[in-house]
Amino acid sequence: CSAKRPAVSASLSVAADSAATKSLERIESLSQVSGVLGCQWGDEGKGKLVDILAQRFDIVARCQGGANAGHTIYNSEGKKFALHLVPSGILNEDTTCVIGNGVVVHLPGLFKEIDGLESNGVNCKGRILVSDRAHLLFDFHQEVDGLRESELAKSFIGTTKRGIGPCYSSKVIRNGIRVGDLRHMDTLPQKLDLLLADAAARFQGFKYTPEMLREEVEAYKRYAERLEPYITDTVHFMNDSISQKKKILVEGGQATMLDIDFGTYPFVTSSSPSAGGICTGLGIAPRVVGDLIGVVKAYTTRVGSGPFPTENLGPGGDLLRLAGQEFGTTTGRPRRCGWLDLVALKFSCQINGFASLNLTKLDVLSDLNEIQLGVAYKKSDGTPVESFPGDLRLLEELQVEYEVLPGWKSDISSVRNYSDLPKAAQQYVERIEELVGVPIHYIGIGPGRDALIYK
Ligand code: GTP
Repeated sequence: CSAKRPAVSASLSVAADSAATKSLERIESLSQVSGVLGCQWGDEGKGKLVDILAQRFDIVARCQGGANAGHTIYNSEGKKFALHLVPSGILNEDTTCVIGNGVVVHLPGLFKEIDGLESNGVNCKGRILVSDRAHLLFDFHQEVDGLRESELAKSFIGTTKRGIGPCYSSKVIRNGIRVGDLRHMDTLPQKLDLLLADAAARFQGFKYTPEMLREEVEAYKRYAERLEPYITDTVHFMNDSISQKKKILVEGGQATMLDIDFGTYPFVTSSSPSAGGICTGLGIAPRVVGDLIGVVKAYTTRVGSGPFPTENLGPGGDLLRLAGQEFGTTTGRPRRCGWLDLVALKFSCQINGFASLNLTKLDVLSDLNEIQLGVAYKKSDGTPVESFPGDLRLLEELQVEYEVLPGWKSDISSVRNYSDLPKAAQQYVERIEELVGVPIHYIGIGPGRDALIYK
Protein backbone atom coordinates (compact mmCIF):
# COMPACT_ATOMS: atom_id res chain seq x y z
CA CYS A 1 0.00 0.00 0.00
CA SER A 2 2.78 2.41 0.97
CA ALA A 3 4.53 1.64 -2.34
CA LYS A 4 1.45 2.90 -4.17
CA ARG A 5 1.23 6.23 -2.34
CA PRO A 6 3.68 8.24 -4.43
CA ALA A 7 1.96 7.06 -7.61
CA VAL A 8 -1.45 8.21 -6.31
CA SER A 9 -0.22 11.62 -5.18
CA ALA A 10 1.77 12.03 -8.40
CA SER A 11 -1.35 11.37 -10.45
CA LEU A 12 -3.33 13.77 -8.26
CA SER A 13 -0.78 16.51 -8.77
CA VAL A 14 -0.73 15.87 -12.54
CA ALA A 15 -4.53 16.21 -12.48
CA ALA A 16 -4.30 19.41 -10.44
CA ASP A 17 -1.61 20.77 -12.77
CA SER A 18 -3.65 20.06 -15.85
CA ALA A 19 -6.71 21.74 -14.28
CA ALA A 20 -4.58 24.78 -13.40
CA THR A 21 -3.11 25.01 -16.91
CA LYS A 22 -6.56 24.74 -18.44
CA SER A 23 -7.94 27.45 -16.14
CA LEU A 24 -5.10 29.82 -16.97
CA GLU A 25 -5.47 29.18 -20.71
CA ARG A 26 -9.21 29.82 -20.54
CA ILE A 27 -8.87 33.07 -18.60
CA GLU A 28 -5.86 34.40 -20.52
CA SER A 29 -7.60 33.86 -23.85
CA LEU A 30 -10.57 36.12 -22.97
CA SER A 31 -10.76 39.36 -24.97
CA GLN A 32 -9.56 42.73 -23.69
CA VAL A 33 -13.12 43.76 -22.83
CA SER A 34 -15.09 40.76 -21.62
CA GLY A 35 -18.29 40.44 -19.67
CA VAL A 36 -20.20 38.12 -17.37
CA LEU A 37 -23.98 38.27 -17.71
CA GLY A 38 -26.88 36.33 -16.20
CA CYS A 39 -28.87 34.10 -18.57
CA GLN A 40 -31.95 33.44 -16.44
CA TRP A 41 -33.82 35.40 -13.75
CA GLY A 42 -30.77 36.30 -11.64
CA ASP A 43 -28.91 34.65 -8.76
CA GLU A 44 -27.08 32.33 -11.15
CA GLY A 45 -23.82 32.78 -9.24
CA LYS A 46 -22.23 35.46 -11.45
CA GLY A 47 -20.29 36.93 -8.51
CA LYS A 48 -18.06 33.88 -8.14
CA LEU A 49 -16.98 33.80 -11.80
CA VAL A 50 -16.36 37.56 -11.81
CA ASP A 51 -14.27 37.22 -8.67
CA ILE A 52 -12.18 34.41 -10.23
CA LEU A 53 -11.70 36.19 -13.57
CA ALA A 54 -10.98 39.52 -11.88
CA GLN A 55 -7.60 38.15 -10.82
CA ARG A 56 -6.52 38.48 -14.45
CA PHE A 57 -8.29 41.77 -15.26
CA ASP A 58 -7.18 45.32 -14.45
CA ILE A 59 -10.69 46.73 -14.18
CA VAL A 60 -14.08 45.31 -13.15
CA ALA A 61 -17.04 47.50 -14.07
CA ARG A 62 -20.74 47.51 -13.22
CA CYS A 63 -22.90 49.01 -15.99
CA GLN A 64 -26.51 48.77 -14.74
CA GLY A 65 -28.76 48.13 -11.76
CA GLY A 66 -28.08 49.14 -8.22
CA ALA A 67 -27.98 47.53 -4.82
CA ASN A 68 -30.66 45.06 -5.97
CA ALA A 69 -27.82 42.79 -7.11
CA GLY A 70 -26.66 40.49 -4.35
CA HIS A 71 -23.38 38.82 -5.22
CA THR A 72 -21.93 36.41 -2.70
CA ILE A 73 -18.21 35.76 -2.93
CA TYR A 74 -15.56 34.17 -0.75
CA ASN A 75 -11.95 35.32 -0.36
CA SER A 76 -8.96 32.96 -0.40
CA GLU A 77 -9.41 32.30 3.36
CA GLY A 78 -13.03 31.30 2.74
CA LYS A 79 -14.49 34.46 4.28
CA LYS A 80 -17.96 35.30 2.90
CA PHE A 81 -18.71 38.73 1.44
CA ALA A 82 -22.15 39.83 0.25
CA LEU A 83 -21.76 42.67 -2.24
CA HIS A 84 -24.59 44.80 -3.57
CA LEU A 85 -23.14 47.80 -5.35
CA VAL A 86 -19.37 47.41 -5.22
CA PRO A 87 -18.08 45.31 -8.15
CA SER A 88 -16.98 41.78 -7.23
CA GLY A 89 -13.38 42.53 -8.27
CA ILE A 90 -12.84 44.35 -4.98
CA LEU A 91 -11.30 41.31 -3.26
CA ASN A 92 -8.42 41.34 -5.74
CA GLU A 93 -6.20 44.14 -4.57
CA ASP A 94 -4.80 45.05 -8.01
CA THR A 95 -8.24 45.51 -9.55
CA THR A 96 -9.90 48.91 -10.05
CA CYS A 97 -13.68 48.78 -9.63
CA VAL A 98 -15.87 51.06 -11.72
CA ILE A 99 -19.49 51.94 -10.96
CA GLY A 100 -20.60 53.13 -14.39
CA ASN A 101 -23.06 55.79 -15.55
CA GLY A 102 -25.83 53.20 -16.02
CA VAL A 103 -25.84 52.28 -12.32
CA VAL A 104 -28.10 53.92 -9.72
CA VAL A 105 -26.24 54.71 -6.51
CA HIS A 106 -27.64 54.85 -2.98
CA LEU A 107 -24.83 56.62 -1.14
CA PRO A 108 -25.66 55.53 2.43
CA GLY A 109 -25.70 51.93 1.14
CA LEU A 110 -22.45 52.37 -0.80
CA PHE A 111 -20.62 53.79 2.22
CA LYS A 112 -21.98 51.02 4.44
CA GLU A 113 -20.61 48.46 1.99
CA ILE A 114 -17.23 50.19 1.79
CA ASP A 115 -17.04 50.42 5.62
CA GLY A 116 -17.87 46.72 5.89
CA LEU A 117 -15.17 45.77 3.38
CA GLU A 118 -12.54 47.99 5.02
CA SER A 119 -13.31 46.69 8.51
CA ASN A 120 -12.65 43.22 7.08
CA GLY A 121 -9.24 44.26 5.79
CA VAL A 122 -10.17 45.02 2.16
CA ASN A 123 -8.50 48.24 1.04
CA CYS A 124 -10.95 50.28 -1.06
CA LYS A 125 -8.94 53.54 -1.24
CA GLY A 126 -8.48 54.69 -4.83
CA ARG A 127 -9.91 51.40 -6.07
CA ILE A 128 -13.56 52.37 -6.52
CA LEU A 129 -14.49 54.93 -9.18
CA VAL A 130 -18.06 56.24 -9.29
CA SER A 131 -19.30 57.79 -12.54
CA ASP A 132 -20.24 61.45 -12.34
CA ARG A 133 -23.11 60.56 -14.70
CA ALA A 134 -24.58 57.84 -12.45
CA HIS A 135 -27.94 58.72 -10.88
CA LEU A 136 -28.37 59.09 -7.14
CA LEU A 137 -30.93 56.89 -5.45
CA PHE A 138 -32.44 58.61 -2.42
CA ASP A 139 -34.18 57.05 0.60
CA PHE A 140 -37.48 58.42 -0.69
CA HIS A 141 -37.07 56.33 -3.87
CA GLN A 142 -37.13 53.26 -1.60
CA GLU A 143 -40.23 54.50 0.20
CA VAL A 144 -41.95 55.15 -3.12
CA ASP A 145 -40.99 51.64 -4.31
CA GLY A 146 -42.98 50.17 -1.40
CA LEU A 147 -45.95 52.50 -2.04
CA ARG A 148 -46.03 51.54 -5.71
CA GLU A 149 -46.01 47.84 -4.90
CA SER A 150 -48.91 48.37 -2.43
CA GLU A 151 -50.83 50.28 -5.11
CA LEU A 152 -50.37 47.42 -7.56
CA ALA A 153 -51.80 45.10 -4.89
CA LYS A 154 -52.37 41.64 -6.39
CA SER A 155 -50.40 42.33 -9.56
CA PHE A 156 -47.34 43.52 -7.65
CA ILE A 157 -44.01 43.01 -9.38
CA GLY A 158 -42.10 41.66 -6.40
CA THR A 159 -39.26 44.18 -6.50
CA THR A 160 -36.57 44.22 -3.80
CA LYS A 161 -38.04 47.60 -2.65
CA ARG A 162 -34.60 49.13 -2.90
CA GLY A 163 -35.89 52.06 -4.92
CA ILE A 164 -34.24 50.98 -8.16
CA GLY A 165 -37.36 51.33 -10.36
CA PRO A 166 -38.36 54.75 -8.96
CA CYS A 167 -34.79 56.02 -9.38
CA TYR A 168 -34.68 54.92 -13.04
CA SER A 169 -38.12 56.55 -13.43
CA SER A 170 -36.66 59.85 -12.18
CA LYS A 171 -33.79 59.41 -14.66
CA VAL A 172 -36.13 58.83 -17.58
CA ILE A 173 -38.61 61.61 -16.76
CA ARG A 174 -35.50 63.80 -16.44
CA ASN A 175 -35.74 65.17 -12.95
CA GLY A 176 -33.12 62.80 -11.53
CA ILE A 177 -30.03 63.99 -9.67
CA ARG A 178 -26.64 62.71 -10.75
CA VAL A 179 -23.47 62.02 -8.78
CA GLY A 180 -21.76 64.97 -10.52
CA ASP A 181 -24.49 67.30 -9.22
CA LEU A 182 -23.00 66.88 -5.74
CA ARG A 183 -20.20 69.15 -6.94
CA HIS A 184 -22.73 72.00 -7.12
CA MET A 185 -24.31 71.95 -3.69
CA ASP A 186 -25.86 75.39 -4.26
CA THR A 187 -28.37 73.89 -6.72
CA LEU A 188 -29.10 70.68 -4.77
CA PRO A 189 -31.94 72.03 -2.53
CA GLN A 190 -33.92 73.21 -5.56
CA LYS A 191 -33.39 69.96 -7.48
CA LEU A 192 -34.32 67.84 -4.47
CA ASP A 193 -37.38 69.96 -3.80
CA LEU A 194 -38.63 69.28 -7.35
CA LEU A 195 -37.98 65.58 -7.00
CA LEU A 196 -39.65 65.21 -3.59
CA ALA A 197 -42.63 67.39 -4.53
CA ASP A 198 -43.12 65.24 -7.63
CA ALA A 199 -43.23 62.06 -5.52
CA ALA A 200 -45.62 63.70 -3.02
CA ALA A 201 -47.96 64.72 -5.84
CA ARG A 202 -47.95 61.20 -7.23
CA PHE A 203 -48.26 59.13 -4.02
CA GLN A 204 -50.84 60.01 -1.40
CA GLY A 205 -49.00 57.96 1.19
CA PHE A 206 -45.79 59.96 0.70
CA LYS A 207 -45.60 62.88 3.12
CA TYR A 208 -43.09 65.53 2.13
CA THR A 209 -42.17 68.25 4.62
CA PRO A 210 -39.68 71.17 4.45
CA GLU A 211 -37.94 69.51 7.41
CA MET A 212 -37.36 66.41 5.31
CA LEU A 213 -35.76 68.50 2.57
CA ARG A 214 -33.52 70.30 5.07
CA GLU A 215 -32.32 67.01 6.61
CA GLU A 216 -31.69 65.42 3.21
CA VAL A 217 -29.66 68.41 2.00
CA GLU A 218 -27.54 68.37 5.20
CA ALA A 219 -26.93 64.63 4.85
CA TYR A 220 -25.93 65.00 1.20
CA LYS A 221 -23.48 67.79 2.04
CA ARG A 222 -21.63 65.26 4.20
CA TYR A 223 -21.92 62.47 1.62
CA ALA A 224 -20.67 64.82 -1.12
CA GLU A 225 -17.50 65.50 0.80
CA ARG A 226 -16.86 61.81 1.40
CA LEU A 227 -17.69 60.85 -2.19
CA GLU A 228 -15.46 63.48 -3.83
CA PRO A 229 -12.35 61.25 -4.16
CA TYR A 230 -14.44 58.55 -5.83
CA ILE A 231 -16.21 60.77 -8.41
CA THR A 232 -14.76 60.15 -11.86
CA ASP A 233 -15.54 60.76 -15.50
CA THR A 234 -15.69 57.00 -15.97
CA VAL A 235 -16.53 57.28 -19.69
CA HIS A 236 -13.14 58.93 -20.21
CA PHE A 237 -11.48 56.47 -17.80
CA MET A 238 -12.92 53.43 -19.58
CA ASN A 239 -11.99 54.61 -23.07
CA ASP A 240 -8.55 55.72 -21.96
CA SER A 241 -8.02 52.33 -20.30
CA ILE A 242 -9.08 50.60 -23.53
CA SER A 243 -6.46 52.63 -25.48
CA GLN A 244 -3.87 51.65 -22.88
CA LYS A 245 -4.73 47.98 -23.51
CA LYS A 246 -5.98 47.45 -19.96
CA LYS A 247 -8.12 44.34 -19.51
CA ILE A 248 -11.69 45.12 -18.53
CA LEU A 249 -14.31 42.78 -17.15
CA VAL A 250 -17.93 43.91 -17.12
CA GLU A 251 -20.02 42.48 -14.30
CA GLY A 252 -23.73 42.18 -15.01
CA GLY A 253 -26.32 42.44 -12.26
CA GLN A 254 -29.71 40.65 -12.48
CA ALA A 255 -30.12 38.80 -15.77
CA THR A 256 -31.42 38.69 -19.33
CA MET A 257 -34.88 37.34 -18.50
CA LEU A 258 -35.34 40.36 -16.23
CA ASP A 259 -34.25 42.83 -18.93
CA ILE A 260 -36.58 45.83 -19.25
CA ASP A 261 -36.96 45.08 -23.00
CA PHE A 262 -36.43 41.34 -23.37
CA GLY A 263 -37.57 40.00 -20.00
CA THR A 264 -41.03 38.93 -18.90
CA TYR A 265 -42.35 42.54 -18.82
CA PRO A 266 -43.63 44.02 -16.53
CA PHE A 267 -42.11 41.49 -14.12
CA VAL A 268 -38.62 42.73 -14.89
CA THR A 269 -35.96 45.04 -13.55
CA SER A 270 -35.66 48.66 -14.69
CA SER A 271 -32.36 48.40 -16.56
CA SER A 272 -30.76 46.36 -19.36
CA PRO A 273 -28.82 43.47 -17.83
CA SER A 274 -28.15 42.09 -21.32
CA ALA A 275 -25.33 42.93 -23.76
CA GLY A 276 -26.77 46.30 -24.84
CA GLY A 277 -26.52 47.62 -21.28
CA ILE A 278 -22.72 47.35 -21.45
CA CYS A 279 -22.41 50.10 -24.06
CA THR A 280 -25.07 52.40 -22.67
CA GLY A 281 -24.03 51.88 -19.07
CA LEU A 282 -20.32 52.46 -19.52
CA GLY A 283 -20.03 54.65 -22.61
CA ILE A 284 -17.93 52.19 -24.61
CA ALA A 285 -18.43 51.23 -28.25
CA PRO A 286 -19.96 47.88 -29.31
CA ARG A 287 -16.89 47.04 -31.40
CA VAL A 288 -14.61 46.96 -28.32
CA VAL A 289 -16.83 44.52 -26.46
CA GLY A 290 -15.41 41.03 -26.93
CA ASP A 291 -16.21 37.74 -25.19
CA LEU A 292 -19.38 37.62 -23.19
CA ILE A 293 -19.85 34.70 -20.82
CA GLY A 294 -23.40 33.72 -19.90
CA VAL A 295 -23.91 32.37 -16.40
CA VAL A 296 -26.65 29.77 -16.13
CA LYS A 297 -27.68 27.73 -13.14
CA ALA A 298 -28.03 23.95 -13.73
CA TYR A 299 -31.73 24.41 -12.87
CA THR A 300 -33.90 27.57 -12.77
CA THR A 301 -34.89 29.94 -9.98
CA ARG A 302 -36.87 33.12 -9.91
CA VAL A 303 -37.61 35.67 -7.20
CA GLY A 304 -40.81 37.72 -7.23
CA SER A 305 -43.80 37.49 -9.52
CA GLY A 306 -44.03 36.71 -13.22
CA PRO A 307 -44.15 33.76 -15.60
CA PHE A 308 -41.82 30.83 -14.98
CA PRO A 309 -42.65 28.03 -17.44
CA THR A 310 -40.55 25.26 -15.86
CA GLU A 311 -41.46 26.10 -12.24
CA ASN A 312 -41.89 23.04 -10.04
CA LEU A 313 -44.47 23.76 -7.36
CA GLY A 314 -44.26 20.24 -5.93
CA PRO A 315 -41.71 18.47 -3.74
CA GLY A 316 -39.18 18.59 -6.62
CA GLY A 317 -39.05 22.37 -6.33
CA ASP A 318 -38.70 22.18 -2.54
CA LEU A 319 -35.83 19.74 -2.96
CA LEU A 320 -33.98 22.10 -5.32
CA ARG A 321 -34.60 25.05 -2.96
CA LEU A 322 -33.15 23.22 0.02
CA ALA A 323 -30.23 21.59 -1.79
CA GLY A 324 -29.32 24.84 -3.56
CA GLN A 325 -30.00 27.07 -0.56
CA GLU A 326 -32.26 29.17 -2.75
CA PHE A 327 -33.07 32.07 -0.46
CA GLY A 328 -32.30 35.66 -1.56
CA THR A 329 -28.99 37.25 -0.42
CA THR A 330 -30.59 40.69 -0.27
CA THR A 331 -34.07 39.88 1.03
CA GLY A 332 -33.91 36.30 2.40
CA ARG A 333 -37.01 35.50 0.30
CA PRO A 334 -37.40 31.84 -0.76
CA ARG A 335 -36.78 31.56 -4.50
CA ARG A 336 -39.20 29.79 -6.86
CA CYS A 337 -37.45 26.72 -8.30
CA GLY A 338 -37.78 24.46 -11.35
CA TRP A 339 -35.93 22.61 -14.09
CA LEU A 340 -33.52 24.20 -16.56
CA ASP A 341 -35.42 25.94 -19.37
CA LEU A 342 -33.54 25.62 -22.65
CA VAL A 343 -36.01 27.74 -24.62
CA ALA A 344 -35.27 30.67 -22.29
CA LEU A 345 -31.54 29.86 -22.38
CA LYS A 346 -31.45 29.81 -26.19
CA PHE A 347 -33.24 33.16 -26.26
CA SER A 348 -30.71 34.57 -23.82
CA CYS A 349 -27.80 33.23 -25.93
CA GLN A 350 -29.33 34.82 -29.04
CA ILE A 351 -29.69 38.28 -27.52
CA ASN A 352 -26.26 38.34 -25.93
CA GLY A 353 -24.18 36.37 -28.45
CA PHE A 354 -22.41 34.49 -25.68
CA ALA A 355 -18.97 33.10 -26.54
CA SER A 356 -19.31 30.53 -23.78
CA LEU A 357 -21.39 29.58 -20.76
CA ASN A 358 -20.69 29.00 -17.08
CA LEU A 359 -23.02 26.28 -15.81
CA THR A 360 -23.26 26.80 -12.04
CA LYS A 361 -24.47 24.71 -9.12
CA LEU A 362 -24.22 21.37 -10.94
CA ASP A 363 -23.39 19.91 -7.51
CA VAL A 364 -26.92 20.75 -6.32
CA LEU A 365 -28.36 18.09 -8.66
CA SER A 366 -26.11 15.32 -7.31
CA ASP A 367 -28.74 13.55 -5.16
CA LEU A 368 -31.39 13.26 -7.84
CA ASN A 369 -32.33 9.97 -9.51
CA GLU A 370 -33.24 11.73 -12.72
CA ILE A 371 -33.05 15.26 -14.06
CA GLN A 372 -35.44 16.99 -16.42
CA LEU A 373 -34.57 19.49 -19.11
CA GLY A 374 -37.25 21.79 -20.52
CA VAL A 375 -36.48 21.51 -24.25
CA ALA A 376 -39.49 22.99 -26.09
CA TYR A 377 -42.72 24.94 -25.62
CA LYS A 378 -46.04 24.17 -27.24
CA LYS A 379 -49.45 25.88 -27.16
CA SER A 380 -52.47 24.09 -25.67
CA ASP A 381 -53.48 23.01 -29.21
CA GLY A 382 -50.08 21.38 -29.70
CA THR A 383 -48.58 24.07 -32.00
CA PRO A 384 -44.89 24.57 -31.24
CA VAL A 385 -43.77 27.96 -29.88
CA GLU A 386 -40.59 28.76 -31.78
CA SER A 387 -38.90 31.28 -29.47
CA PHE A 388 -39.37 32.63 -25.95
CA PRO A 389 -42.59 34.66 -26.38
CA GLY A 390 -43.17 38.26 -25.32
CA ASP A 391 -46.86 37.50 -24.77
CA LEU A 392 -47.31 36.92 -21.05
CA ARG A 393 -50.63 35.13 -21.41
CA LEU A 394 -49.11 32.68 -23.86
CA LEU A 395 -46.20 32.15 -21.45
CA GLU A 396 -48.58 31.31 -18.65
CA GLU A 397 -50.66 28.92 -20.76
CA LEU A 398 -48.03 27.08 -22.76
CA GLN A 399 -46.85 23.58 -21.99
CA VAL A 400 -43.23 22.62 -21.62
CA GLU A 401 -41.80 19.48 -23.18
CA TYR A 402 -39.18 17.79 -21.05
CA GLU A 403 -36.36 15.40 -21.72
CA VAL A 404 -35.45 13.12 -18.83
CA LEU A 405 -31.79 12.38 -18.17
CA PRO A 406 -30.28 10.03 -15.58
CA GLY A 407 -28.86 11.49 -12.37
CA TRP A 408 -25.34 10.63 -11.16
CA LYS A 409 -26.07 10.13 -7.45
CA SER A 410 -22.56 10.94 -6.28
CA ASP A 411 -20.74 13.87 -4.73
CA ILE A 412 -18.96 15.87 -7.44
CA SER A 413 -17.82 18.80 -5.30
CA SER A 414 -14.16 17.74 -5.24
CA VAL A 415 -13.88 17.01 -8.99
CA ARG A 416 -11.60 19.46 -10.83
CA ASN A 417 -11.18 17.83 -14.26
CA TYR A 418 -14.08 17.47 -16.63
CA SER A 419 -13.10 13.90 -17.50
CA ASP A 420 -13.45 12.93 -13.80
CA LEU A 421 -17.12 13.91 -13.68
CA PRO A 422 -19.53 10.94 -13.67
CA LYS A 423 -20.67 10.04 -17.18
CA ALA A 424 -24.28 11.08 -16.42
CA ALA A 425 -23.11 14.56 -15.35
CA GLN A 426 -21.07 14.87 -18.56
CA GLN A 427 -24.14 13.75 -20.53
CA TYR A 428 -26.22 16.52 -18.87
CA VAL A 429 -23.60 19.18 -19.68
CA GLU A 430 -23.16 18.02 -23.27
CA ARG A 431 -26.90 17.79 -23.94
CA ILE A 432 -27.28 21.44 -22.90
CA GLU A 433 -24.37 22.45 -25.18
CA GLU A 434 -25.89 20.50 -28.05
CA LEU A 435 -29.34 22.04 -27.66
CA VAL A 436 -28.25 25.67 -27.24
CA GLY A 437 -25.20 25.56 -29.54
CA VAL A 438 -22.88 27.43 -27.16
CA PRO A 439 -19.95 25.72 -25.40
CA ILE A 440 -19.93 25.40 -21.61
CA HIS A 441 -16.40 26.37 -20.60
CA TYR A 442 -16.89 26.66 -16.84
CA ILE A 443 -18.80 24.33 -14.51
CA GLY A 444 -19.52 25.28 -10.89
CA ILE A 445 -19.50 22.40 -8.43
CA GLY A 446 -19.53 24.33 -5.14
CA PRO A 447 -19.57 27.89 -3.80
CA GLY A 448 -15.80 28.22 -3.21
CA ARG A 449 -13.41 30.01 -5.55
CA ASP A 450 -11.65 26.74 -6.43
CA ALA A 451 -14.89 24.80 -7.00
CA LEU A 452 -14.84 25.32 -10.77
CA ILE A 453 -14.14 22.92 -13.61
CA TYR A 454 -12.61 24.43 -16.77
CA LYS A 455 -13.84 22.43 -19.73
P1 GTP B 1 -27.44 38.47 -8.70
O1 GTP B 1 -26.65 39.52 -9.31
O2 GTP B 1 -28.32 38.95 -7.56
O3 GTP B 1 -28.28 37.73 -9.69
O4 GTP B 1 -26.45 37.40 -7.96
P2 GTP B 1 -25.42 36.31 -8.50
O5 GTP B 1 -25.78 35.81 -9.84
O6 GTP B 1 -24.03 36.81 -8.37
O7 GTP B 1 -25.66 35.15 -7.48
P3 GTP B 1 -24.96 34.96 -6.07
O8 GTP B 1 -23.58 35.46 -6.06
O9 GTP B 1 -25.91 35.42 -5.01
O10 GTP B 1 -24.84 33.39 -6.06
C1 GTP B 1 -25.82 32.59 -5.55
C2 GTP B 1 -25.25 31.62 -4.52
O11 GTP B 1 -24.73 30.51 -5.19
C3 GTP B 1 -24.12 32.13 -3.65
O12 GTP B 1 -24.32 31.71 -2.32
C4 GTP B 1 -22.87 31.47 -4.25
O13 GTP B 1 -21.85 31.25 -3.31
C5 GTP B 1 -23.45 30.16 -4.68
N1 GTP B 1 -22.75 29.48 -5.76
C6 GTP B 1 -22.17 30.01 -6.87
N2 GTP B 1 -21.72 29.03 -7.67
C7 GTP B 1 -22.02 27.85 -7.05
C8 GTP B 1 -21.85 26.47 -7.38
O14 GTP B 1 -21.34 26.11 -8.44
N3 GTP B 1 -22.32 25.54 -6.49
C9 GTP B 1 -22.93 25.89 -5.30
N4 GTP B 1 -23.36 24.93 -4.50
N5 GTP B 1 -23.12 27.18 -4.96
C10 GTP B 1 -22.67 28.14 -5.83
